[in-house]
Amino acid sequence: MQNFEQSDMLKRLPEQFFAKLVAKTQEVKEQGHDVINLGQGNPDLPTPEPIVKELQTAAENPVNHKYSPFQGFGYLKQAAADFYKREYDVSVDPEQEVTILFGAKAGLVELSQCFLNPGDTALLPDPGYPDYLSGIAMASAEPAFMPLQRENNFLPDYSAISEEALDCAKLMFLNYPNNPTAATATKTFYDETVALAKKHHICVVQDFAYGALGLDGQKPQSFLQSEGAKDIGIEIYTLSKTYNMAGWRVAFAVGNPSVVQSLNLIQDHLYVSLFGAVQSAAAAALNNDQTAVKQLAATYTERRDRFIRALNDIGWDVDIPEGTFFAWLPVPSDYTSEEFADLLLEKAHVVVAPGRGFGDYGEGYVRVGLLASAERLEEAAARIGRLEIFK
Ligand SMILES: Cc1ncc(COP(=O)(O)O)c(C=O)c1O
Repeated sequence: MQNFEQSDMLKRLPEQFFAKLVAKTQEVKEQGHDVINLGQGNPDLPTPEPIVKELQTAAENPVNHKYSPFQGFGYLKQAAADFYKREYDVSVDPEQEVTILFGAKAGLVELSQCFLNPGDTALLPDPGYPDYLSGIAMASAEPAFMPLQRENNFLPDYSAISEEALDCAKLMFLNYPNNPTAATATKTFYDETVALAKKHHICVVQDFAYGALGLDGQKPQSFLQSEGAKDIGIEIYTLSKTYNMAGWRVAFAVGNPSVVQSLNLIQDHLYVSLFGAVQSAAAAALNNDQTAVKQLAATYTERRDRFIRALNDIGWDVDIPEGTFFAWLPVPSDYTSEEFADLLLEKAHVVVAPGRGFGDYGEGYVRVGLLASAERLEEAAARIGRLEIFK
C-alpha cells in the first residue's frame, strides 16, 4: 500500500487537542459507566418543528433537486437582511452585503484564505474557538493572540497590543457572546474596535454564533449596531445554535461588501451552494415568529441557574455566565486544566473540556456545556461534590 505524503498545508494544521478527550471518553463509556458528557458544544434539543416541516416540503419540490444557484437563493439572503433589520435595526443590502455559508466554520476558515498571504498576521482571541487558527495555518499566516482575561471581562485589552502589531494585522477575529468564556461584549467595546480597525486598516470578523443566547433575557449587541462597523468588517451568524440546527450546516455573513464579494468568489470555486431545501428551511427559521428562540434562551438560563447553584452547594466558587450555553469554571490551583478534566472523567464520569485546548490563556479553567437537562447538570455537580475537592 502506498503512503501518499500530505501537502505542507495539511502538515501545518494545528493538532486537534480535543481528539484525545473524545478517545478517553469513549474508553470510560466502554467500561460501562454512565458518562455525563458536558465537553462539547453540540446543542442537545431538536430543531423547532416548523423548520423541519419546511425542509420536508421543500425536499419534495423538484426545483431543489437541481443545483442551487451559485451563491444561494435570493430569498435566503433577503431573509437574512430582514432578520438583521428586525432584530438589530441594521440595514444591509441582501445581494451586496449578505453571503450564505456552509456553517460558520466554513466561512471562518475561508476568510483567512481570502485575505491572508504567507507571513501576514491575524489577531485572534486566546482562549478562542480553534477554527480561527486552522484557517490562519492553512494560509501560512501568523497568529497574534489577544489574551482574554477575567480582570478585563474576557475582552481583549487593545492598549496592550503594540502599534507595530496593529499595523501588521490584516484580520481580527472576535467572538461575543464568547466561546469558551461565556462573556458578552458591550457597545462601547465594539465602538472602540471600529475606531481601532479604521486606524490600522484591519478587517474585523465578529463571530456571532451565540448571538441569540443572551441569558437572563438580555439581548446581545450585534457588532453591526456600532456606527461604521460595516466599513471595516463583517459579522458571521450561524443558525446552528439559535435554532438547534448544528447538523444542517447553514450560516451567513453580513457586512462589508468587499468581504462578502471575496467570500462569494472563493465559494464559487469550492461549492455550488447549499441544498435548496436547507435554504428554504433556513429562510423559514429566520422569517418565522422567534418565540422558540426566546424559550431556548430561557431554558439555558434555567439550566445555568440550577447548575451554578449546585456548584456553589459543593463549594465551587464560580462566575455566573452571561451568554452562550457554556460555563467557564476555574480549576483548583493544584491541577492543570487537563489533569482536572481527566480526574472528573475518571472519578466522576463527567466530561468537561480543559481550558488549555482553547489556548494558553485557557489554562486554569474548564469549559462546561449546559447541554443536558437541569437534572443531569445537577447530577454532574453532585458527582463532582462527592470527590470532596472543594471542601
Ligand atoms: C464560536 C463558534 N463559532 C463557530 C462555530 C461553528 O458554527 P457552525 O455550526 O455554523 O459551523 C461554533 C461551534 O461550536 C462556535 O462555538
